[in-house]
Amino acid sequence: MLNDVESVLLSAEELAKRIEEIGAEITEDYAGKEILMIGVLRGAVLFMADLARAIKVPVAIDFMAVSSYGSGTSSSGVVRILKDLDEDVAGKHVLVVEDIIDSGLTLNYLLDNLKSRKPASIKLCTLLNKPERRKVQVNIDYNGFDVPDYFVVGYGLDYAEKYRNLPFIGILKPQVYQG
Ligand code: IMP
Ligand code: MG
Repeated sequence: MLNDVESVLLSAEELAKRIEEIGAEITEDYAGKEILMIGVLRGAVLFMADLARAIKVPVAIDFMAVSSYGSGTSSSGVVRILKDLDEDVAGKHVLVVEDIIDSGLTLNYLLDNLKSRKPASIKLCTLLNKPERRKVQVNIDYNGFDVPDYFVVGYGLDYAEKYRNLPFIGILKPQVYQG
């Protein structure tokens, strides 16, 4: 698995430090409120678990799954809900947690969908952002890191369901997905 990684882009230490910072910022912004964190399955799970522990106001968690890339590396533009929320978001302070925003198509669709369910507020937190690849505008409230246009894996992010358990964010060797 490590042989497929070209280089480490963000170490476990860098990730942990930034997540503490974002957690502190969120704690301050939501003082006196409760947060409903909505994780976008499956990539956001590891980030969300660490972020939740860095936030000091009450946090409830729920998950959604939407279709994205299958096993390829570029977006189809078609977004489908594969698993919906278990909780009603009406009147809640929703914080959507994503692993990476690339074209923006997934989040653009998801945010519109969630806004129609009348939450008290809705914000977006992403660990990684690839601004060069944006196709539709997405307003990011909390951004971990801007990353260059490489296919990255680890810390929740996969290629064909592999590499999610790497403790760092690494750049995948192109020959892995070019065959
Ligand atoms: P978007 O709709 O193009 O913004 O796609 C977002 C989704 O694509 C993310 O939630 C990831 O699951 C996946 N994705 C985009 N870029 C990468 C990457 O570099 N590595 C792993 N997954 C990625
Ligand atoms: Mg994802």
